[in-house]
Amino acid sequence: MNNIILIGPMGAGKSTIGKLLAHSMNLPFFDSDKEIEHRTGATIPLIFEIEGESGFRDREVAVIDELTQTSGWVLATGGGAILRPENRAVFTERGFVVYLHATVQQQAERTAMDTQRPLLQTKDRVGKLNELMTKREPLYREAADLIIETAGKSPKLVVDLIRQYL
Ligand code: S3P
Repeated sequence: MNNIILIGPMGAGKSTIGKLLAHSMNLPFFDSDKEIEHRTGATIPLIFEIEGESGFRDREVAVIDELTQTSGWVLATGGGAILRPENRAVFTERGFVVYLHATVQQQAERTAMDTQRPLLQTKDRVGKLNELMTKREPLYREAADLIIETAGKSPKLVVDLIRQYL
């Protein structure tokens, strides 16, 4: 399978690993967040501010549908893309889905300096990440063809592991 879809929470390393994986397989890499920003000419925080989370989710559904029409790519999705059934159907039908798992503690550490993720601009970041994982984790697991525990692994090791299953 040469359509690979990376799912998982913020701070799991989807973009870093996706880029490395795509490079190692000589495939194009897409990042749904970056594509949304590119197409709208607006940052994600601004889209959230003007259109709300549901406006952002609509754009995410449209971009994921569009990016997955062809064949031969690696796609990193935003952590909340799993919430929309349209995306879940795309994941099932159009690619090999890798869930990059990270603990809430790791997510919090990796996003500690972040100012670009609207859902994390709160005092209780760990609480928020916990809340999001409680809701989303069963959906990630359900959608996954492969689950990779990222704790203690370098991006290169994660890429090598994924490639063993393709
Ligand atoms: C979100 C995750 C972000 C981005 C937006 C919302 C989420 O992507 O799509 O801030 O709801 O988990 P990353 O998972 O790439 O950080």
